[in-house]
Amino acid sequence: MKMSLELLASLESEIVKGLPVFCLERWQSLHETTARINLSESGVHPLSLEELGEYGVDYGDLLKLELSYGWTRGSPELRKAISELYEGSVDPENIVVTAGSAEANLLAVLALISSGDVVLVDSPNYMQIPGLLRWVGAKVMYLRRKPPKWDFPAQRAIGLMEELKPRAIFVTDPNNPTGSYMSRRELKELASEAERRGTVLVFDEVYWGTERGESKVSVAQVSTSENFVSVSSLSKTYGLPGLRLGWISSGSRSIANRVWSIKDYVSIAPPVLSDRVAVKILQPDVVRKLRIRARRVVSENLETINKLLPNEELIRPYPSLAGAYVWAEVPWTNNTLRLSYRVYEASGILVAPGECFSARGYVRVGVGLKPEILRVGFAELLEVLSNIKNSEPLSGTAPRS
Ligand SMILES: Cc1ncc(COP(=O)(O)O)c(C=O)c1O
Repeated sequence: MKMSLELLASLESEIVKGLPVFCLERWQSLHETTARINLSESGVHPLSLEELGEYGVDYGDLLKLELSYGWTRGSPELRKAISELYEGSVDPENIVVTAGSAEANLLAVLALISSGDVVLVDSPNYMQIPGLLRWVGAKVMYLRRKPPKWDFPAQRAIGLMEELKPRAIFVTDPNNPTGSYMSRRELKELASEAERRGTVLVFDEVYWGTERGESKVSVAQVSTSENFVSVSSLSKTYGLPGLRLGWISSGSRSIANRVWSIKDYVSIAPPVLSDRVAVKILQPDVVRKLRIRARRVVSENLETINKLLPNEELIRPYPSLAGAYVWAEVPWTNNTLRLSYRVYEASGILVAPGECFSARGYVRVGVGLKPEILRVGFAELLEVLSNIKNSEPLSGTAPRS
């Protein structure tokens, strides 16, 4: 399918008053099924039910499962298994199972933020939370990460907490699209300041477990107060987005209960089949093996990318510390939405344009693919980028930056 200029422009429009089009998800929804090689994904390539069997998952009892609504906030076994991921720092009673972390993020915003609330938000970012915050009428202030390390500006956040007394701070840690994540020390400092100010820390930790260096700790493990929310899912690190199984956990029973009550309006209950499968996946041995798988696939692909890279003029990837993606500067054009469109049109290769993360001049390239596909896809991407760079200049509308 060819993408028209109107469609490019529509990526920066509104769906209904106040709610921006979710650029990245629209971009992917429209092209991922027709892309020849999809380098726009951020997770590790999905596993089949059969492959999961090789990781020790046994489905013996599932045929007898009654397909009822199940437990509306997730089964007690599943909430206990999730609590163990946080090494017990979250009470299973404070966990609500959701349809992916996408539903968890929606519920977090609805449960915590009202029109006029001041909030601080990580940027660049997966733009779901910023879009939702705009919709509910929050006063949003962005905490901008800077190259080359793209670290979360924790000291600035601490300063602004004192000055603005925000209701909440929303951080994606590890960050999408940059892969940077906070150290235990920084996180502790932020958490203790948030406790003093009564600010809620809302962390989207969907890439937790993909770190290739020092392991990340969750906000739940360092928070000294009830004022935290951690969102995650089985989609990225565990390679199981099709289960649509995520969760939200909080130190506060009252936040968790509000989330549960809002869920009554949204999806009622998580899919009971996914709930059962998730209990089997979240056993410590399976978790450990799936995390190793994620790191192995990504490390192998990163090596391939480094070997294939011709020079710094075409594309400049930053070191990728977590997530199954690489964030790269395109030094010769700012119009990376238009560039990504041209790449897709010319080659059927889909990358994620920086504009969809509120950062033009960059692209995010997925490195969670099967290594043999990544090798071919990345080599072709370099070729098509070089052809575009050496042909006519990129022109046309310059969407959102
Ligand atoms: C930071 C972040 N949060 C949430 C999601 C939604 O993922 P899911 O609903 O599959 O867990 C994504 C997907 O790309 C993401 O990158």
